[in-house]
Amino acid sequence: MKSIDTPLVVLDKNKLKRNITEMAQFSKEAGVDLRPHIKAHKTPEIALLQVEAGAKGITVAKIGEAEEMAKAGIRDVFIAYQIIGEKKIQRVINLMRAADLTLAVDSEVGVGYLKDMAAKVERKIPVLMEVDTGLNRCGVKSGHEAIVLAKKIRQIPGLNFKGIFTHAGHAYGASSPSQVDEIGRQEGEIMVDLARGLNKEGIPVEVVSVGSTPTAKISGRIKGVTEIRPGNYVFYDAMQVSLGVVPAQRCALSIYATVISKPTQNRVIIDAGSKTLSLDKGAHGNEMLKGFGFIKGYPHLLLSRLSEEHGIIEGMKSEKMPEIGDVLEIIPNHACTAVNLAESLVVFDENNRVNNWKVKARGKVQ
Ligand SMILES: Cc1ncc(COP(=O)(O)O)c(C=O)c1O
Repeated sequence: MKSIDTPLVVLDKNKLKRNITEMAQFSKEAGVDLRPHIKAHKTPEIALLQVEAGAKGITVAKIGEAEEMAKAGIRDVFIAYQIIGEKKIQRVINLMRAADLTLAVDSEVGVGYLKDMAAKVERKIPVLMEVDTGLNRCGVKSGHEAIVLAKKIRQIPGLNFKGIFTHAGHAYGASSPSQVDEIGRQEGEIMVDLARGLNKEGIPVEVVSVGSTPTAKISGRIKGVTEIRPGNYVFYDAMQVSLGVVPAQRCALSIYATVISKPTQNRVIIDAGSKTLSLDKGAHGNEMLKGFGFIKGYPHLLLSRLSEEHGIIEGMKSEKMPEIGDVLEIIPNHACTAVNLAESLVVFDENNRVNNWKVKARGKVQ
């Protein structure tokens, strides 16, 4: 261990493949399509494994992610993000040559942008309407508001209203596993009710798409849901463990960091700070999460503070502490944000061979 150069973002391919296979199996058993959100990893090698395991297509947040995945040969891409602005419209049009895109919309203004886009291309653009099932982020409210917007989308000849989608990200703020279950159930039921309401108005709904990693296996079982879009499940992380989604052994991604200082008996400093681990404590607030990651082999220690390039680990006086030069493995709070900060992942395969997988479309631009 002491010969490796840290900090490193390390991926266990065995665990990764298990996570990918298990979710693919769930989707088959539940009879729903799997369209994983690849913003979690931004890594073509991982997206291709997901498709190989049975994913129907992928979900992305950024046009840059869609561009990179199309370059890797993935055609069926849902951009689950509002496309607003002339430059973005043009990029999406250009990308339509390389990928079969489905686009998201949640407002009349957004429909206007998509209408302009449709006027410039010769095919009908498939569209999913975003619905807010409690996250209070994007999305129309289920009911009248949703029916009015769906009708507006259907009035545009260049748009093909395919259905509805939501993301119950508020599950990350849950204070118990049973609350996660409840949020997942609501996510599915609200969407299925809305699909029925739209049907009553004569609007066919082919796609009812739900999902976050904590809720996918709950909302994915509600009859009438047709698709799940978990993303983080390829890795899992301290957030998922604290929510009770999986035990820590299922986490495929860890940060390797070296102890560089031991100023007192109960405080050591590692060479991974916020620029490696990210300051993420759960985007929507998670009271069950303590510190900035789990330290493997030292469950009693707390990674209590992060500077940009320093991580501060504290323990009680009597507890076993690591020594200067030791390499620690840390499961990050949020694997997706940690990966976004890394240029590449160091991947250990089944035979302990090491590969380097580049993380694409990182950072703010795109
Ligand atoms: C629209 C949308 N769908 C799916 C996901 C995937 O959820 P998770 O990160 O919990 O796997 C996200 C994550 O932010 C999202 O924003």
